[in-house]
Amino acid sequence: MKNRKVYISGDLVPDSEAKISIYDSAVLLGDTVTESTRTFNYKPFKLIEHVDRLYKSLKLTRIDPGMTKDEMIEVSENLLAVNKETYGDNEDCWLVHNISRGLSITGGNPTLQVSKATIMIYTQPMILLPWAKFYKEGCHAVTPSSRVIPSQSLDPRLKNRSRLFYTLGEMEAKLVDPDAQSIMLDIHGNVAENKGGNIFIVRDGKLITPTTANCLEGLTRATTIEVAKSLNIEVIEAVIQPYDLSTADELFMTSTPYSIMPATKYNGLTIADGKVGPITKKLLQGWSDRVGLDIVKQAEDQLHIH
Ligand SMILES: Cc1ncc(COP(=O)(O)O)c(C=O)c1O
Repeated sequence: MKNRKVYISGDLVPDSEAKISIYDSAVLLGDTVTESTRTFNYKPFKLIEHVDRLYKSLKLTRIDPGMTKDEMIEVSENLLAVNKETYGDNEDCWLVHNISRGLSITGGNPTLQVSKATIMIYTQPMILLPWAKFYKEGCHAVTPSSRVIPSQSLDPRLKNRSRLFYTLGEMEAKLVDPDAQSIMLDIHGNVAENKGGNIFIVRDGKLITPTTANCLEGLTRATTIEVAKSLNIEVIEAVIQPYDLSTADELFMTSTPYSIMPATKYNGLTIADGKVGPITKKLLQGWSDRVGLDIVKQAEDQLHIH
């Protein structure tokens, strides 16, 4: 154990000593908003945008974090600096924020914030092994029977830690194929998202991705759209269905750790010729150019180390 420092509600403590109450609303209610940022070359990518999204989630959940966005950025950057020595020279990390409403009173009014918010920030090594082989091979995307929570119940743009339905959906996909990555539908049967990523297809040279009516407004999704536009690739936000995935020219997911994850099979059907497609490759290259690091190489290098 490296015994990295974590930030808990104002204190920096070794992770092995970090504790929260069993009465915390994170535990009792899953009443927690969250962000996961990653570093490239140990610099946080789009930290301001992540903190902006975090504060939108805090606003909607009416959790008062007791600190400003600028203070949140400052403590986050400070944590990265404090933990720097625990990472190798070319090692990157996650920077994760979890903020709950604080203590909750059993049988009390769960809507009240009766204590200070519990602010938990930690860093962890960016382990890319679960996805590393998929840059070349593509993964098998599988749609489970569980559907995402309708936006009428919880807006998917509010990034939160109530994740049982994503976990069960991912589990169903992995029972079909242990290597599968889920693509969940909404209650109307439209393509929504992966438990931790957004979905894109390529059709006739154009990128198509679901609107944010049923998925998180992913920052990797936004960066992928920016990269596509810089490469003169047209991007359309539309309602798409499983039919569109099965018949796509290319299919991939986007998320903070892996940036772009190609899929070459969907529910057992091969996508196009079963190879990672040219536009996916171009976008990956565009991403690497943008962040100043070979994203595929970083992940594949881990296959050799571990
Ligand atoms: C449900 C869900 N969808 C999509 C994403 C991708 O978002 P981002 O690109 O901001 O990491 C995440 C990230 O954790 C997520 O939890």
